Amino acid sequence: MSSISGHSDASIRPLGVFYDTECDRFRASFGDVAFSFHHRLADNPLFSLPRLAVAAERMIHAGIGNRFSVRAGAYDVDKPYVKEMERPKSLSAFEELRDSALFIKLSNVNEADRDYDDLCQEVVADTEALLGHEILGGVTMVHLSMFIAAPHLVTPYHIDHDANFLCQITGEKDVYLFDPHDRELLPTDEIERFYLGETNAARYREQYQPRGRCFRLVPGVGVHHPPLAPHWVRNGSDISISASIHICARDLDRRAHVHQMNRILRKSGLHPRPPEQSPLVDSIKASGLEWLGKSNPTSSRDLIYSGVERLTHGLNRVRSVASKARNWAHLPQVRPPH
Ligand SMILES: [Fe+2]
Repeated sequence: MSSISGHSDASIRPLGVFYDTECDRFRASFGDVAFSFHHRLADNPLFSLPRLAVAAERMIHAGIGNRFSVRAGAYDVDKPYVKEMERPKSLSAFEELRDSALFIKLSNVNEADRDYDDLCQEVVADTEALLGHEILGGVTMVHLSMFIAAPHLVTPYHIDHDANFLCQITGEKDVYLFDPHDRELLPTDEIERFYLGETNAARYREQYQPRGRCFRLVPGVGVHHPPLAPHWVRNGSDISISASIHICARDLDRRAHVHQMNRILRKSGLHPRPPEQSPLVDSIKASGLEWLGKSNPTSSRDLIYSGVERLTHGLNRVRSVASKARNWAHLPQVRPPH
């Protein structure tokens, strides 16, 4: 392994996934700027195709087979992310990969398979060791998803809530990442719509492509996606297997709730302050949605969206009742007989 930064810190214990020689880069960029890194996962037997097929089978038996998905791969960067996925009846997709244009995704594989969950914890521990502090206010949820894709497929442009480590296991791919702070490229409107549940809210604009940074991933190399960093991916000429460790953290969840509340306020004709300008205002906005959200979220979707879904559902009911009341008030009044 060649070192990128060449710095080492004596206080960091030997790491299972990352390398302490890249400590400087982690500390300077994590959560903010995309950066490449080296990892030890490429030779890990957990990521061989036969082992991943076993993991998929375990997901089906655990009742989360809907998170094992197969779909026809895409070749366009600007086509909306395909949400509808076909639930496979068998594991044959793993055998058909080379001669097909299939994209297999195992989402949150760590929920059904303890070995992958241990690995997630190891990534968190390594990251906190490298940073020298907890991740973005404390980890609220961590998941591992696997992307197994036929040659030349494209993952269309999109944004994600969490902080991500995309680790290449087999094959090669180019990952194009954009600055999450560039509001011309990623307007606030798109972020707010994303946090109101519009998965494809971030729109690819070809004129901004030169603002992207291309990271060439080969086995043993990964790239950190800062939260909300727009990105798209093109696979190389062979089957690609990538492990994606995505981390939700308290600061990120709170910022998401501020965006959600801002969207609701904006729809009411107000002009709310953007997140991270006033800790007090942010705290007030976020606390409401945290209070409304599920107390024991079992997925990142619950964690981020359950509060705003309950609030909008409640607001819609109030509007509906108010509308009925208005209609009723305008009905001709029936006078009681004398
Ligand atoms: Fe992504």
